[in-house]
Formats: sequence, structure tokens, C-alpha cells
Amino acid sequence: MHKKTASYTQYGMRQLLDTLKPEVRTLISTAQRLAGEKRLRAYLVGGFVRDLFLGASNLDLDIMVEGDGIEYADALSARLNARCIHHKRFGTATLVTEGHLKIDIASSRKETYPEPASLPEVKPGSILDDLARRDFSINAMAVSVNSDDFGMLIDVYGGCRDLKKKRISVLHENSFVDDPTRILRAIRFEQRLAFSISSKTLRYLSVASRKRMLQKLNLQRVRDEIMLMLQEKNPVAQMQRLGGLYGFSFLHPRISFSSKTRKLFESIELCLQWFSRNFSHRRQLDSWLLYCIALFEPLSASSTRQLAKKLALRRGEEKRLLDYKKSGLCILKALQKKAVAPSRVFGYLEPHSYEVILFLVAKAKNATLKRHVEDFFRRYNGIRHSVSGRDLSGLGITPGPLYAKIFRALIKARLDGKVRSKKEELVFVRRLQKSIR
Ligand code: CTP
Repeated sequence: MHKKTASYTQYGMRQLLDTLKPEVRTLISTAQRLAGEKRLRAYLVGGFVRDLFLGASNLDLDIMVEGDGIEYADALSARLNARCIHHKRFGTATLVTEGHLKIDIASSRKETYPEPASLPEVKPGSILDDLARRDFSINAMAVSVNSDDFGMLIDVYGGCRDLKKKRISVLHENSFVDDPTRILRAIRFEQRLAFSISSKTLRYLSVASRKRMLQKLNLQRVRDEIMLMLQEKNPVAQMQRLGGLYGFSFLHPRISFSSKTRKLFESIELCLQWFSRNFSHRRQLDSWLLYCIALFEPLSASSTRQLAKKLALRRGEEKRLLDYKKSGLCILKALQKKAVAPSRVFGYLEPHSYEVILFLVAKAKNATLKRHVEDFFRRYNGIRHSVSGRDLSGLGITPGPLYAKIFRALIKARLDGKVRSKKEELVFVRRLQKSIR
């Protein structure tokens, strides 16, 4: 029999499960029925169980089955009418329901690390093996969804105790050496939950730091964790703690969380709030990218490019980071002047992403520049011309790259109030035609 915690009886756990949203409860009942039919054991695990105790809403479920997880995932996705994505390499699957619940399903497994910081070797294992391979006690609990012991909590590593004591503890001494991304995860959960990393765990972490374990990782593995840290509610606290506990040399020797970077982060936070109050309907922002631009401030364009490649950032992400390096200063200078024609403001800002533009606002902290950006977001961006390609062809202009130039000129003329109607636009184009000839 698995060890149960004294503080959470099966009855108490069932009551806690009853507090879940109806769609989550229905899903758990379906998972239970299916496990019964397939004669395998299924458990809720990981962050979902942690957040269940914390009363934090979490629509990402982790289900672990003792048996074939992929086959179970396929059958569950058919019952829930959910999309199912297989991750063959890991023997796991992700389901996404029509109600946007996400369910990660995996077979319970045993992991061994052939070398420090390497990817683990994976073998099928029991539920206890699976809990033993996890990062922190608070993430290493399981709750049975099986009908014979529904709601039984398996908490071998004191997860409940650590939740009560608001403590992040690894399961064993080599946890950070086996998987150095856990250094970043420990900080992320500590800061998110306002917990403390336990003193023993801090000791293990400082050993891993002395061994420069993060430097031994392929940076692609670090990328996702850094992104997650920058997406948390308080990136300042996240980076401050990382700077204090480990530093940033694993990214680049010139990166640090100096007081200048901290101030920039604070200014970005205010800018993001301003954007979400006024313009959130316009676009969803990759807010982490603004913080990333701030972290990469001390780097030259070529070092930024190299680092972006090592981190395997997507092309669009790399482009935005480099775009700031290339054009940022020039825009900053130009838009701190009061009298700038709307068409020029448009010309400066339109080629750039919202992330780069907002970063400039955060960096400059200049009211004039902010006003230009506000006008751009509010009035200029998305402005349309009325003359169409067909109209241009009617004027005898042969289709080709010239059309784009004419449309751009029309937009600028609209912005500066030189044309206000389609009729005026047509006059404008005719005049343009003559000057081109
Ligand atoms: N896990 C681990 N070691 C890692 C990554 C993940 O042990 N390096 C385990 C933990 O048990 C974790 C679970 O896998 O709870 C799921 O991982 P993930 O989805 O990254 O974390 P969550 O705990 O769900 O965190 P979040 O709330 O940020 O989604």
C-alpha cells in the first residue's frame, strides 16, 4: 500500500476534487471509467495536484497511467472529442478539449541519468518510480482516479508538508546535477508561490552552481525555462533571484541583472500595463520578449544573433531582438522631437513589431515619444486607403511593385491630412503619375 499523508484522508481529497470546475470533474470521471475498462491504474500528478491543494486554478491536467499511455490517450481523446497530439519520442500525448482543457498523458516511467546534465534514459516503471524522477516534493504527489481508491493521495516525499511550510525541496542530492533546468524551476516556483527554497536544497543548488551545471546544458533546454520565468507575474523578482543565486553567465558573460536592467524591467512592466489598459484589443504581446531585449541590452548585434541561435529562438523572435539592435537608437532619437509629421511617425514605427515599439517607450521614458507611439497605436496603425488596384489599373498604371509604393504614399498623404476622400486620392495619384513620368 502506498503511503498516505495523515493530513489528507481520501475523504478530504474527494472533497477537494469536488471543488473543481464541472468540466474538469466530468473529465476525471471519464478518465476513471476508461482506466477501469482498460484495467490499468491512472493518477493525477504534478502541477495539477500541487495547484489543487493551493486552490489555484489550473486547466492543464497531468494524467499518468501504469500501462500504455499513448493507447489510453487515443481512447480518452475519442471519448472527449478532443484533439490528440502524440510526442512519440517521449511516449506521451497531449489532448486539448473543445473547452480548452489541456491534458498531458504519460506512462509511468523510471528515469536514470547516464551523465550529469544529459537527457535521461527512460524505462517503464511504477507510479512510485515516476514520482521519484520528479523535481520537487510539491510536484511529486499523485492522486488516484481509480474507482477502488478514488482520491487516495500518494505523497512519499512530503509534498503536503512542504506546501504547508511554503518550501521548495528537491527529492535528492543530485537533482540539480541530473537536470540543471531545475535550478531555474526552483527559482520560478519559489518566486511565483512566495515560497522559500529549503536550506538543504539551497546547499545542493550552490554545489550545482559551483560546478557550473547550467553551462553544461544545451542552451535550447534552458530557453523554455527562461521564457517561462519571464512570463511569470513578477519577472523582476525572478531575475533578481536568479542573479543572486546563480548569475547569468550561462547565457553570456556580459549579461547581468544590474540596477540599470532592473529599472528597465520595472519600466517595461509599467508599459505593458499601459498597453493592456489601452490597446490590448489590438494584439496579444509576447511580453517575455520585451524583457529578453532588456536582458540582451549589453550585447552587440552579432553577440545577440549568436545567442539567439544557441537558444534556438524562432525566426520571428530572433528578428525582433535584432530589429531593436539595428533601428532602436535611430527611432529613439527621431521620436523624442515634438514636431514630427504623422506620416514620419508612421514611417518610423510601422516596420517594427509592437514588442520593439513598446520596449522603446520603456527605455526612453519620454512623454513625447510615448505620445507619438500612442497616436500610432490609436490612429495611424491600420489606417486604409480607398483607391484599389483596380482603380490604379483603370488609370493605366501597369500592375507591379509600383502599386505598393503608391499605396504607401497614399497612406502617408491620408495621415498628414493631404487627402481625405477617394476623389482626393485619385487626384493625388494622377499628380504622382505625372511626377514619375
Ligand atoms: N518535471 C520534473 N522536472 C522537470 C520538469 C518537469 O520533474 N525538469 C515534472 C514535475 O513533476 C512537474 C511536471 O513534470 O510538476 C510537469 O511539468 P511542467 O508542466 O513543466 O510543470 P508544472 O508543475 O505543471 O508547472 P506550471 O504550473 O508552470 O505549468
